[in-house]
Amino acid sequence: MATPILEAIDVWRSYQRGSETIHALAGMHLTVQPGEMVGIVGRSGSGKTTFLNQVGCLDTPTKGTISICGTDVTAMLEKELVAFRRDHIGFIFQLFYLIPTLTAVENVELPMTFAREGNRRERALEALARVGLSEVRALPHQLNGGDMQRVAIARALVRKPRLLLADEPTGRLEHGSRVAIMDIFRSLRAEGMGIIIVTHDPTLAEETDRIIELRDGRVVDERKVA
Ligand SMILES: Nc1ncnc2c1ncn2[C@@H]1O[C@H](COP(=O)(O)OP(=O)(O)OP(=O)(O)O)[C@@H](O)[C@H]1O
Ligand SMILES: [Mg+2]
Repeated sequence: MATPILEAIDVWRSYQRGSETIHALAGMHLTVQPGEMVGIVGRSGSGKTTFLNQVGCLDTPTKGTISICGTDVTAMLEKELVAFRRDHIGFIFQLFYLIPTLTAVENVELPMTFAREGNRRERALEALARVGLSEVRALPHQLNGGDMQRVAIARALVRKPRLLLADEPTGRLEHGSRVAIMDIFRSLRAEGMGIIIVTHDPTLAEETDRIIELRDGRVVDERKVA
């Protein structure tokens, strides 16, 4: 069998609040294979964002192991982690987080600038074509929500990560844009990317391969989507 894109084993993330210990994650497990799209659902506070942050190397678990493409990231030093994250992981958020003073194409160029790579304009335009955005010189405020999310997806994709993490990617979008974004995810899955989508939207969850339900920081239900 191929190496999983993600293997999270018994992951804990605990916070100290005064004398109280809060376990945001309490023995979380998840494996994602290449070309698999997993939906994560669960009520507010169940640990969904905390889990994405651990997998996305933005935070370090209190306990447990996270391997991405066969590499144990929990054993890495901060400096290695920054490079690893940039090379392997794309992140998409509900609020897009585009730089307001940069055009669409300039926003997409940013990750390549940080990685000191060449051919930036050409590759950024390619990524924007991929997500179907033609107004490449527009500033974020000139675009509607769906198009802003297209730019954010292009930025996440432009360095061809193996794993895409999305936290409520369609939360702010109307129906037409939600459908378009879902189509993009589907085509990425077909290319072998591993995709994790956190969502409150049941129709979006039903588009994934497998739905995981979190409660109190662990998986309480898991089912394959027909
Ligand atoms: N930095 C922190 N310090 C203390 N507690 C935290 C911290 N971050 C998260 N928590 C707690 O961890 C738990 C899980 O939070 P998390 O944000 O992962 O939930 P979520 O499932 O993403 O919720 P939502 O659907 O509202 O986005 C919550 O009880 C939250 O209060
Ligand atoms: Mg959250």
